[in-house]
Amino acid sequence: MSSSVFSAAEPRSAAPADQWWRTAVIYQVYPRSFADDNGDGTGDLAGVRSRLPYLRALGVDAIWFTPWYASPLADGGYDVADYRAIDPAFGSLAEAEALIAEAAELGIRTIVDIVPNHVSDQHRWFRAALAAGPGSPQRQRFWFRPGRGRHGELPPTDWVSPFSGGTWTRTVDPDGTPGEWYLHLFAPQQPDLNWNHPDVRREHEDVLRFWFDRGVAGIRVDSATMPVKDDTFPESAHQHAPGDHPYVDRDGIHDIYRSWRAVADSYDQPRMLVGEIWLADRRRFARYLRPDEMHTAFNFDFMMHPWDSGGLRECIQSTVEAHGLVGAPPTWVLSNHDVTRPVTRYGRPDSSFGFEARRFNTPTDLALGRRRARAAALLSAALPGSLYLYQGDELGLPEVEDGDLPDESRQDPMHLRSDGADPGRDGCRVPLPWTTSGPSYGFGPGGRTWLPQPTWWGRYAVEAQAGDPDSMLTLYRAAIRLRRTEPALRGEVFAWVTGQSEHVIAFRRGENLLCLVNFGADVPLPPHDTVLLASGALDGDTLPTDTAVWLRI
Ligand code: NOJ
Repeated sequence: MSSSVFSAAEPRSAAPADQWWRTAVIYQVYPRSFADDNGDGTGDLAGVRSRLPYLRALGVDAIWFTPWYASPLADGGYDVADYRAIDPAFGSLAEAEALIAEAAELGIRTIVDIVPNHVSDQHRWFRAALAAGPGSPQRQRFWFRPGRGRHGELPPTDWVSPFSGGTWTRTVDPDGTPGEWYLHLFAPQQPDLNWNHPDVRREHEDVLRFWFDRGVAGIRVDSATMPVKDDTFPESAHQHAPGDHPYVDRDGIHDIYRSWRAVADSYDQPRMLVGEIWLADRRRFARYLRPDEMHTAFNFDFMMHPWDSGGLRECIQSTVEAHGLVGAPPTWVLSNHDVTRPVTRYGRPDSSFGFEARRFNTPTDLALGRRRARAAALLSAALPGSLYLYQGDELGLPEVEDGDLPDESRQDPMHLRSDGADPGRDGCRVPLPWTTSGPSYGFGPGGRTWLPQPTWWGRYAVEAQAGDPDSMLTLYRAAIRLRRTEPALRGEVFAWVTGQSEHVIAFRRGENLLCLVNFGADVPLPPHDTVLLASGALDGDTLPTDTAVWLRI
């Protein structure tokens, strides 16, 4: 398939067509939970193809697919067994090609997920490494090490995995005796690759070309700060200066992305890279966005902030400044498949997000959360840069929690490996409701779903919201439409507006568009021509608490 696949569609953002990513609205599809065509309870590519008109009507510019490759799904597909094959549960390579082409015809680009830090333990390389035994060249592509202790019975380091527990698993030698350990920062089914090995570098560049040649417009880089390791393997990973951590944000990482950028830029219509970069240090973060590295990265700082005007204002300011250093556009992210849904998060006494803070039975005011999530939608859609939208957030889905997701149904390794303390990420991955009733609420023709849907799910269905002027779906559709029709929202001009209450975030886009978000007591609206859009009812010329408005001035 040629790279001219995009030319069939009108570019729908204001940036030049080859820089569409600067202002795009990018919708994240978690294929397992989006739409199920064959009725087996798992979403599939045919399901996505049948729902492309929905995404077109929503107005998105691109779809980012979380991994759709062949995988044992030990970590929802982030354990890739074969990058050149689609998992049979989702469909076939031919269907992926058809999906990419059909989306492009509707003006929707495709972004796929690449996971450089690790592969599945079922990947042919890892199976070969286990079979070949200690000292073999096959093991050099991974991190095999002898254990500490008299009999090698202790892991090489005491690093703690983001999935709880240790980061090493001991192998068994072909003769049945305990052998070397291998490194896995995440689950044991996800062995880490050794990026010093030329095969690892070559293979990933080939995989990028494989998907770019099929018309994919960009890639999302998973766990992008982690692939390069300190190969002296210090025992502990605590307290390191920036760049000196044994596996996070080491300086050697940037060479990888420079070579990926060269691959992306070698196409007539250059492809984009977006990084999953969790780094508190804004300057270190911006280094990934230098002109010869990635184009953009997820703004998790914004996503993690509690609902508070002061903190969010500072976050927006530091975001704009850090990106300005390198000329990259910011991204605005309210959630994804790893975090608590915004409607739930913003309805909690502590409305920040932190993986370690997640617990069962946390009191939540969903009406409050919904009001704030609507305001957050207008805040993030008005900021300069690109906007990420996780499937189901446009429906205002709450996190599915506690008894609605019985313990035996939970599948996330974050839950399973925490001895049940962490609810995990299944609650934001429940199959979407399309219809108000019927088997699986329209998710698929069978009654089955790979995670149970709660009894109240139909209330949030697309069918229930599509014609409702007050629904979350209507709000998102209107906001995305205005991003397309209002040049101010796609331009570069962003200026704080002062003179408001400290509980109000206020900024101007272009010359004549004002966005206000009120976190405190009711305030009067400033003079304006028209109300373009509001996240909740305005009381005459008053902006109520937890409400956002876009004004023409
Ligand atoms: C980040 C992904 O978003 C998450 O879902 C996954 O578990 C880890 N990386 C490991 O690949």
